[in-house]
Amino acid sequence: MKPVEGFSKKSKEQKIAWLLETYLQSSPQDKKVLDQYLNQDDNIQKLHEEFSENTLTNFYIPFGIAPNFLINQKLYAIPMAIEESSVVAAACKSAKFWLDKGGFKTKVLSVVKVGQVHFTFKGEVPKLQEFFRSYLYSKLFEDTQSITENMQNRGGGIINIELKDKTADLEDYFQLYCEFETVDSMGANFINSCLEQFSKTLEREIQGSDLFSKQEKESLTTIMCILSNYTPECIVRASVKCEISQLSSDPKDAELFAYKFKQAVEIANVEPYRAITHNKGIMNGVDAVVIATGNDFRATEACAHGYASRSGKYKSLTHCSIEDNQFEFWIDLPISIGTVGGLTQLHPLAKLSMKILQNPTARELMEIIAVAGLAQNFAALQSLVTSGIQKGHMKMHLLNILNSFGANEKEKEYFIDFFKDKTVSYHLVEEELSKLREKA
Ligand code: MEV
Repeated sequence: MKPVEGFSKKSKEQKIAWLLETYLQSSPQDKKVLDQYLNQDDNIQKLHEEFSENTLTNFYIPFGIAPNFLINQKLYAIPMAIEESSVVAAACKSAKFWLDKGGFKTKVLSVVKVGQVHFTFKGEVPKLQEFFRSYLYSKLFEDTQSITENMQNRGGGIINIELKDKTADLEDYFQLYCEFETVDSMGANFINSCLEQFSKTLEREIQGSDLFSKQEKESLTTIMCILSNYTPECIVRASVKCEISQLSSDPKDAELFAYKFKQAVEIANVEPYRAITHNKGIMNGVDAVVIATGNDFRATEACAHGYASRSGKYKSLTHCSIEDNQFEFWIDLPISIGTVGGLTQLHPLAKLSMKILQNPTARELMEIIAVAGLAQNFAALQSLVTSGIQKGHMKMHLLNILNSFGANEKEKEYFIDFFKDKTVSYHLVEEELSKLREKA
């Protein structure tokens, strides 16, 4: 086997032929799998192929909805794109549970996004600081006027720029630490364009200034300009609240449930092994909506986990309090998403998701996503502190197990009935299925 030259320039057919020949023993079955996932509509197929390099076919994940979400007194059906069996079912269960208890309340607490110009400079720091304050700061705004004009008309733009001396962390390291408001767009292109202009302005102005020595000018090096996916100042809160007695029809069960639920959240606060799983469950809901609406789930993930460890210890993203017989459960989620730009209005299903959500603003979408995360965590903890997770989980997973054995519809019906009052296990399916097939 040898490296392939100019792969990206090959046609899709040539790429597939190369792949089949090189790695798949020219298998017609493997070619069929690739073909089966192509869209019948050439325009849709082309659209998908243009999203990314070297596209051969499409990779589906289920797209479903979780109805009955009452958020700030408005009813939503939340679109979710997720492959994990029990996530949509859990969302539906939570939505229904809170529907007659006032539903979910949300509030966007802040919407600031950050980008940085990372550069090195060897020289007199107070002089650089004074130059920044008295001259460069306004120049940076001036020079980005043509980039920011549209964003300003929409209510956003550059909020502030700071010069940060980071030399205590790394020799000669400085930053232009910049804050932005990007309204309904995620803002990556806008922020990165501003940053690249800031770096040009910084270099030009320092090179042209009499204040700096030749050595100082030569030492100035822009390392990189990039937005930060960490947005601890772009936070949305979602919460639910009810009387403890509403948590169960039996008052004793309700008290115990509230106690165990709160303890489960506290455990995730003090125990990182649990916190990661706890937050992973939250992200099941968050990512599903982020993906369905064409947003960047890697950014959302990285940010959420960074935020969960902001104290220096990885903790729960959700919180629970019990006071004066009131049970309250909430999440503060940092999230940077958009409802314009990117895939949101380009991918037909993302566009449809937006329509299902009544074309939300970015702030409203932040709220919906936080609700999906909170709902998911509520459902997970509800199961964990009562029946255990496997009961619901394995029921949902049953079809996956049956499909892995190539079960037909009749066999599936049989097993759904068979497991009505039993715990699903892979082993039991295997055993029972072979008995069934022997009899047939
Ligand atoms: C599974 O995807 C998610 C859970 O493990 C979350 C949790 O334990 O809180 C059920």
